[in-house]
Amino acid sequence: MASLSPPEEAAASYLHRHTKRYSSSNGVESVSDFSKRPKISPPQQSSNFISPSEIESEFSHHDPDFARVNNGSFGCCPSSILALQRDWQLRFLRQPDRFYFDELKPKISESRAVIKRLINAEHEDEVSIVDNATTAAAIVLQQTAWAFREGRFEKGDAVVMLHYAYGSVKKSVEAYVTRSGGQVIEVLLPFPVISADEIVGRFRKALESGKANGRRVRLALIDHVTSMPSVVIPIKELVKICREEGVDQVFVDAAHGIGCVDVDMKEIGADFYTSNLHKWFFAPPSVAFLYCRKSKNGCAADLHHPVVSNEYGNGLAIESSWVGTRDYSAQLVVPSILEFVNRFEGGIDGIKKRNHESVVEMGQMLVKSWGTQLGCPPEMCASMVMVGLPVCLGVSSDSDALKLRTLLRERFRVETPIYFRPPGEGEIDAIAGYVRISFQVYNKPEDYHRLRDAVNELVREGFRCTSLSG
Ligand SMILES: Cc1ncc(COP(=O)(O)O)c(C=O)c1O
Repeated sequence: MASLSPPEEAAASYLHRHTKRYSSSNGVESVSDFSKRPKISPPQQSSNFISPSEIESEFSHHDPDFARVNNGSFGCCPSSILALQRDWQLRFLRQPDRFYFDELKPKISESRAVIKRLINAEHEDEVSIVDNATTAAAIVLQQTAWAFREGRFEKGDAVVMLHYAYGSVKKSVEAYVTRSGGQVIEVLLPFPVISADEIVGRFRKALESGKANGRRVRLALIDHVTSMPSVVIPIKELVKICREEGVDQVFVDAAHGIGCVDVDMKEIGADFYTSNLHKWFFAPPSVAFLYCRKSKNGCAADLHHPVVSNEYGNGLAIESSWVGTRDYSAQLVVPSILEFVNRFEGGIDGIKKRNHESVVEMGQMLVKSWGTQLGCPPEMCASMVMVGLPVCLGVSSDSDALKLRTLLRERFRVETPIYFRPPGEGEIDAIAGYVRISFQVYNKPEDYHRLRDAVNELVREGFRCTSLSG
């Protein structure tokens, strides 16, 4: 046998273990057998847990030259899952007709069943698998647009969303809601945030203004974890307020949901909830779910995938399971990802908890070294936290933030997004630049030490963002 590189080795040993456990008489069937009965619960015995060297090998395809403290943007996928994804791709290419007619839908349905159990949804048909949170937002907002165009909503009825909603989701609101005559109300949030109460208070005010002059709030679009700046939003309280205030529908954008925060559909109680699986659940790019609560008034019934195929009208889950010929393999490895996370103590919940504790510890270490502050209290962050940069770096625009990010990548080999916070009225020498650091299982304290030292070096040199051209 030819010698294998570390990622191939990891994948081969993982496949070997699972093939042994699951293979039927026909070796080709091993992947499907593997995905048949994924265990939701992790092992209890520490001897069965994944070892640090196995973790290293699972992520050895990451560029070793870079301190990657930005899991939040694109997530990560272990090599054993990439190997299994490749298996699915080959299975399709081996006999596409048979795969299409006999396997694709049942296998997507298995992935939906796993997600349904993970998120505590009531029915499997409440769960659709889509490419990403961007697609999920288009599905929900397209329904809102039709309601305006078809006269079920009146011109001027409101959609309320956070000012910190993700850029592409805001564009989607502009494309679907504003163009259809809806009024968009943004909830301005404080940053740095001191308490969840501040967010709740401002949200209530925005709903009041949406309801002024007898108008109705037709949709509240709430992030579970905002992207930039990153803060965990008290969504359970906000959904409850929406119900009290008669908001028609609530859509939670949890692009950073599963694997990052608690995701329980019955507890959260939203009408729609989307989470990527490729950010914090180790899926290959790209796969997400959109949960649509079954309701008496049937508001979920008129949801459609924006890419229309011959499955149009068969329900969103089925429409989403065929959006034309393409690679569906990322959706098919979901049961195997559950097996992967269950190799860690406490499964996905254990990973989430440790990531949170570690990111807070690393954030506090940076704050101490730089003499700055975190962007929110530890209980309001999940696996990402905003850390103030020294004021003397002179971050004074979005463009400065981007240029500094590029400098950190090119000169210091550190990957981290930077947020520019415009100073408030009368504020002098307030922190205007914040890095968003993430922690995922592959990270080590050295990654954050590299970031700390890079910033301290810039400070020592007397660097200011104004010195960066372009
Ligand atoms: C809050 C939020 N919504 C939506 C998205 C878009 O996710 P995707 O690019 O996977 O569609 C992101 C991406 O980071 C995000 O943070």
